[in-house]
Amino acid sequence: MYVDVLLGLQWGDEGKGKIVDYLADKYNIVARFQGGPNAGHTLKINGERFVLHTIPSGIFHEGVCNVVGNGVVIDPVTFQKETSKLEALNIDVRERMVISLRAHLILPTHKLLDAASESRKGQAKIGSTLRGIGPTYMDHTGRNGLRVGDILEPDFKQRYQALKEKHEELLGFYNYKDYDLAELEGPWFEGIENLRRLKLINTEYFLNDALAKGQTILAEGAQGSMLDINFGTYPFVTSSNTLTASASIGLGISPTRIRKVYGISKAYCTRVGSGPFPTELDNDMGELLRQKGSEFGATTGRPRRCGWIDLPALKYAAMLSGLTDLIITKIDVMNDFEEIQACTDYEIDGQKTQDLPYDLGRKDLKPVFRTFPGWQKDIGDIHNFDELPAPITNYVAFLEDYLKVPITIVSTGPGREEFILKEQVSTL
Ligand code: GDP
Ligand code: IMO
Ligand code: MG
Repeated sequence: MYVDVLLGLQWGDEGKGKIVDYLADKYNIVARFQGGPNAGHTLKINGERFVLHTIPSGIFHEGVCNVVGNGVVIDPVTFQKETSKLEALNIDVRERMVISLRAHLILPTHKLLDAASESRKGQAKIGSTLRGIGPTYMDHTGRNGLRVGDILEPDFKQRYQALKEKHEELLGFYNYKDYDLAELEGPWFEGIENLRRLKLINTEYFLNDALAKGQTILAEGAQGSMLDINFGTYPFVTSSNTLTASASIGLGISPTRIRKVYGISKAYCTRVGSGPFPTELDNDMGELLRQKGSEFGATTGRPRRCGWIDLPALKYAAMLSGLTDLIITKIDVMNDFEEIQACTDYEIDGQKTQDLPYDLGRKDLKPVFRTFPGWQKDIGDIHNFDELPAPITNYVAFLEDYLKVPITIVSTGPGREEFILKEQVSTL
């Protein structure tokens, strides 16, 4: 029937996993369309924490089909770890998931190339998760890559060998020698065997047939809008498109099938890795957000940089993706704060603007903040929007007015049940 898209609006880690897990059983299918194991999507179910990297966040729901789309890049090793963990919980991954034959494979040498490229950049490094994402997408667009479908071909080993040798030459160019490829190849080929036993199909037909039968799809974004390869803070971005348009290409569904676009933002802002972050708080307040929000990477464990919410950046993301619904997460992290701040404008060259400049890192850009009163109240037990303290409802009204997008959900904790639906848009 239709496809709804769910995206992160910031620099990732907005709480996509948690919200997709909540929304999943309202759809027939949950589908990942870009990124790979650089993502870490956390779900907290009955007090237990699960982190998914490549497998869609609908996997915990019986009766929901999970699709790993053609736009995703798969590391067979991480993938095997994920499938084994889920199978140990008696989740029939083979039954609940299908994988695109067109998804590209991350080779061990892609990861080495990622590391070699980052170390060559020195101070200018991207701060990549080093999961091989950039080199794999480079081989994709360079028309050199290996795809899931290739593992079913009789000459797969030769194709692998040819690409590996190319990569070894490149590693030689970087003078990167600190690796033992044989050690990495063992688990990789085991991971390939694991993939072979799963359902590998032409997911574009599967998804379009499902739509024709009246089924619904939730497309689960990874990373965030400001990490988009075209519109993010280039070059400090990831190597895929992270916006609504990417769901179409990454799944093989027409843009005309897209209905709602859910955008997620934290009530503040975080970033892992290098690159501009105008509202960053490199001080005690930033540390407080990090501690209260447990802001440590779900994939790498790195401390996340923390700062106030950046509304011009959110407005940009809302525009690029055509948001229909906004979801605010982690408002509870600021429960104790006397006041909170939001960046409403940038001052560039003495002029106020809400437009993002070409280079968000330009030295003369200063964020302009507006201060809002805090609520200093635990909101964990509140389940009705109208019962929230006035400073929160006023802040939400301000965000809706600024961004011109209605807020659908306010998330109040990491747990599956910890959220509030806003009354007028509660029919999801
Ligand atoms: P994702 O990559 O967008 O799925 O987000 P991550 O899982 O990397 O990071 C979000 C973190 O915040 C996870 O640890 C979640 O369990 C947690 N989380 C999600 N929503 C909320 C919320 O509303 N409040 C709090 N306190 N934590 C949340
Ligand atoms: P989820 O889906 C936060 C960041 C990295 C680095 C840059 C490039 O969990 O929100 P890459 O590994 O893609 O070469 O890294 O992008 N990054 C993320 N930051 N959440 C993510 O995913 C991220 N995926 C990549 O930290 O700065
Ligand atoms: Mg994450």
